[in-house]
Amino acid sequence: MTGEGDGTRVVHAGLPEAVVGEPFLPGPVFAAPYHLDPVDGPGVNGYGRPDNPTRRALEKAIGSLEGGPTLAFASGQAAITALLLSTLRQGDTVALPSDGYFTVRAFAEGTLRGLGVKTLLVPTAGPYPSFEGVRLVLLETPANPGLDVCDIRAVSAQAHAAGALVAVDNTTATPLGQRPLELGADVVVASGTKALTGHSDVLLGYVASTNDEVMATVTTWRAQTGAVPGAFDSWLAHRSLATLDLRLARQSANAQVLAELLAGRPDVSNVRYPGLSGDPSWAIAREQMHRIPGIVSFDLGSAERVARFLAASELVFAATSFGGLHTSADRRAQWGDDTAPGFVRLSCGIEDTIDLVADLSAALHAA
Ligand SMILES: Cc1ncc(COP(=O)(O)O)c(C=O)c1O
Repeated sequence: MTGEGDGTRVVHAGLPEAVVGEPFLPGPVFAAPYHLDPVDGPGVNGYGRPDNPTRRALEKAIGSLEGGPTLAFASGQAAITALLLSTLRQGDTVALPSDGYFTVRAFAEGTLRGLGVKTLLVPTAGPYPSFEGVRLVLLETPANPGLDVCDIRAVSAQAHAAGALVAVDNTTATPLGQRPLELGADVVVASGTKALTGHSDVLLGYVASTNDEVMATVTTWRAQTGAVPGAFDSWLAHRSLATLDLRLARQSANAQVLAELLAGRPDVSNVRYPGLSGDPSWAIAREQMHRIPGIVSFDLGSAERVARFLAASELVFAATSFGGLHTSADRRAQWGDDTAPGFVRLSCGIEDTIDLVADLSAALHAA
């Protein structure tokens, strides 16, 4: 499906052949055990932990967008920790973004350290150190929440030269925003909880890779540890995926306008949006990304001013997470991110731009 546009690709991703009298997207298959052939044993479906057709259809859909075989997990963290725990051994070193999703760092500093795995923290914007002795390099670009972007192709080449495996967290960009496997990464990990599914009603994660060894290891890991998404969540995710192109288009358009509005205000500082031509991430984002996601970050100076801004806004929900239909904002310091007290991550939804501009302007004025 590579020659087709994004809208066409997401609408048709993972659908079965058309059969008269059958639905376009088959409903969820709820099954723990399946009928077995007592002589030949399980065929495609033996037991629900390793085997579920609804989940397989979703994996086929995401895989067609990322460009590699895909395994779905119960959450982004389940996917990321599956890769880390199934790949790393005692004495190994893993390189992680110092400015990426904080739970991954916490996991490395707790569980991985306890298993004898060392962590090398690297800022997404670089400079990148030598990867000699590093087993796995995990990149997160754009990084959440600071929105720095790194050159996946260049860092992958450097890591491969040192014998390291490269994984990219593609949560913020989504596979319509960038395709790390085509840029030289070995593995994509992601939370599908965010823009990929986009309706704030599902937790999902996935690992995608064209490396057979990685996929075999992670398949066994998932079958034995069991962090699989249920049939209903898999189906909801697949259904939601079909509108990804439309949702991202509106989110990005809203983010561009709101970032420009925020950057033009004297009472807002440190506005970051890779779509702004003055942004430090602009040049590399333009080069490697197909579109810029709908996330903007900025500083309102204090936690109290953020609270006043959110209380005054009628459209911006105070909520964590991002990538959903509803515009929301999160003061990241409350979660333990190393950010200033007034630092806000704004996730632009799909409301009308004109309404968001009016609401944000009024709320900032009131705050
Ligand atoms: C970049 C990134 N990766 C991974 C995760 C974890 O995903 P989940 O919440 O689905 O476990 C998050 C969650 O916010 C995230 O922002």
